[in-house]
Amino acid sequence: MSTYDLIVIGAGPGGYVCAIRAAQLGLKVACVEGRETLGGTCLNVGCIPSKALLHASHMLHETHENFEKMGLIGAAPKVDWQKMQGYKAETVGGNTKGIEFLFKKNKIDWLKGWAEIEGAGRVKVGDTTHETKNIVIATGSEPASLKGVEVDNAAGVVVDSTGALSLPKIPKSMVVIGAGVIGLELGSVYARLGAQVTVVEFLDAITPGMDGEVQKQFQRILAKQGLKFVLGAAVQEVEVEKGKAEVKYKLRKDDSAHEIEAECVLVATGRRPYIVGLGLDKIGVALTDRGFVQIDEHWQTSVKGIYAIGDAVPGPMLAHKAEDEGMAVAEVIAGKHGHVNYDVIPGVIYTTPEVASVGLTEEAAKESGRKVKVGKFPFMGNARAKALFQAEGFVKLIADAETDRVLGCHIIGPNAGEMIHEVCVAMEFGASAQDIALTCHAHPTCSEAVREAALACGDGAIHA
Ligand code: FAD
Ligand code: NAI
Repeated sequence: MSTYDLIVIGAGPGGYVCAIRAAQLGLKVACVEGRETLGGTCLNVGCIPSKALLHASHMLHETHENFEKMGLIGAAPKVDWQKMQGYKAETVGGNTKGIEFLFKKNKIDWLKGWAEIEGAGRVKVGDTTHETKNIVIATGSEPASLKGVEVDNAAGVVVDSTGALSLPKIPKSMVVIGAGVIGLELGSVYARLGAQVTVVEFLDAITPGMDGEVQKQFQRILAKQGLKFVLGAAVQEVEVEKGKAEVKYKLRKDDSAHEIEAECVLVATGRRPYIVGLGLDKIGVALTDRGFVQIDEHWQTSVKGIYAIGDAVPGPMLAHKAEDEGMAVAEVIAGKHGHVNYDVIPGVIYTTPEVASVGLTEEAAKESGRKVKVGKFPFMGNARAKALFQAEGFVKLIADAETDRVLGCHIIGPNAGEMIHEVCVAMEFGASAQDIALTCHAHPTCSEAVREAALACGDGAIHA
């Protein structure tokens, strides 16, 4: 038995970042992880493998769609699925090993196994109980189940995101249930690899919570890329027979019943916190009504000395939100002032083009009772985006009409996920749209479109 200052449970982006920051601040730290490799959902079956497949399939799409237009003539590559899976596994492996290295470098003990909390200050892993001054729960999330639908990742017909990252073969047809981030990213991957993809969504728009104009334009772009959409449709059940699936749904507008057959069905209807086996009920850690671990403004649970972060607690289920909370809670435990600005957490969908947003949507800004102004600039007016064949989107900047302060930004366009950070920094510094408009932006870059949107909040964009 050893005594620690902190035991972190879970080595995803929340947990491993928390462990590293706590060690940097001089605490004696251990991190418990039950998986064979560190990095959590994000590195093993989330952000990283999905981005590897998005990258590879995007490259294929470029060769088919755009190479000839640029005068690059020749045989287009064919897909070797096993090799692409190998590239994905190598990308994941390199990153998970990297966390192992960082643990060693920072003298963090990896306690291998599944943890149970016996009480404040006591964490059991296997047969050993470890003593610690503080505990951070960073156990993440798992795919939510859907009534009437049985997921069997091993069979590869009805799968969740984990199964969809490692399908035995590329299906000819795929139904994606849920037009959220997972459904659209992985749906895009398989559409580019040749599958006929149909997305069935309960609501009347894709990507719930996003800016309305972005939702519409994003759907148009994906439809042009070959994805089909059935919106306002409630899936009733999925039947599997002879290796094929039949998705039965009802249209909400008239209750009419329909079905689609597909070789593969991806269930992507959200995720739920994963707290199985932790023993939280026994030790009295309170949960929210939606099953998340309840925390106060310092990430402390209802039990003193036990904290929680990441997907296991309320808020956006994003790796960088988990990381920020990991760093902040480590600071709090070390007696410093950890802080997360929940108003400035970007969200990115890594399709082509990418979709990125931060802060308030136009709808939310108006609902908040403010007078708002909107500066919009289409990538059609951006030379670089045109050269990249990605000029269908736009940048939309939302500012307070009275103070000019930037309230939010929404981008559909090339490298939107990189460009959004300029606006994040501006918002952190309480900048005005004019501050962005007066900042010199290099030419020719896609980022010039952000400046143009800021100019559009004032006297007008130049290239529109
Ligand atoms: P997790 O990453 O889920 O890690 C929790 C870890 O705790 C796991 O490794 C688990 O094994 C371990 N654990 C659980 N219980 C115990 C226990 N009792 N004992 C020991 N160990 C335990 N987010 C983004 O920001 N960008 C993206 O591009 C992105 N892409 C995604 C793609 C997919 C397909 C999926 C599924 C998710 C994606 N996400 C993305 C979401 C992101 O993965 C999560 O928000 C993030 O991983 C949450 O981090 P976490 O540390 O809270 O938990
Ligand atoms: P999500 O919450 O983004 O989307 C789920 C969708 O399914 C919603 O549009 C919802 O209306 C729909 N839905 C729910 N029940 C349905 C039903 N019965 N029939 C049809 N549609 C139904 O959840 P998703 O895509 O599973 O992702 C989970 C989490 O993972 C997200 O919170 C996201 O933040 C995170 N993630 C982030 C990524 C990124 O940042 N790029 C990539 C992938 C995941």
